[in-house]
Amino acid sequence: MKEQPTLTTERLILRPYSLADAKELQTLIGDRRISDTMHSIPHPYSVGMAEEWISMRQKSFDEGKSVQFLITDKPNGFLIGGIGLTISKEDENAELGYWIGKPYWHKGYCSEAGAAVMKYGFEVLALNRICARHMTRNPRSGKVMQKIGLQHEGHLRQAWKKWDKFEDVEMYAILRCDVIL
Ligand SMILES: CC(C)(COP(=O)(O)OP(=O)(O)OC[C@H]1O[C@@H](n2cnc3c(N)ncnc32)[C@H](O)[C@@H]1OP(=O)(O)O)[C@@H](O)C(=O)NCCC(=O)NCCS
Repeated sequence: MKEQPTLTTERLILRPYSLADAKELQTLIGDRRISDTMHSIPHPYSVGMAEEWISMRQKSFDEGKSVQFLITDKPNGFLIGGIGLTISKEDENAELGYWIGKPYWHKGYCSEAGAAVMKYGFEVLALNRICARHMTRNPRSGKVMQKIGLQHEGHLRQAWKKWDKFEDVEMYAILRCDVIL
């Protein structure tokens, strides 16, 4: 069993999940405004679902399939959001995904966490490419992708289905050769 690292930024600590986080996680992620623009977060979201998801993290990390961090406040340790990479080892690439609890939007937290996870992906995981996708009706997420240096690659028509409705999606990515390591 490998130990997942903790990343530190100016205002945040990005750390591995623990089962003790389930209730706090459910409170933030259970807000419909989070699941509304996330492809795979259901609503309502129970504490049991949070526990189940947390309990799979270590195995997924050990198998090199994903690395997921809780975004927490540096001085006080409270939970702010979640961020992580879903990895394809064969292709040496990963998809970045994230959410920030509603009380903490518009403070630049997602961009700050995203830059740190991207650096980890290139420097530690030695990835060649990191991509991210957002619903077209969620331009705020696109702004985060642009701020951390991802380039727009395409508009995917009706690529996701959310709340029984097809959603257009924007695809962004950054390559290892785009960043100065
Ligand atoms: C998308 C999300 C992660 C952004 O988190 P955040 O911490 O508020 O993001 P940041 O503060 O780092 O940056 C947001 C940027 O979007 C901009 N923005 C805010 N509202 C916007 C809007 N309606 N349209 C375009 N840009 C917008 C902000 O101005 C900011 O850019 P700036 O710093 O240059 O001003 C957050 O809103 C969220 O969790 N949403 C629900 C879940 C989700 O959609 N996750 C992403 C799935 S792809």
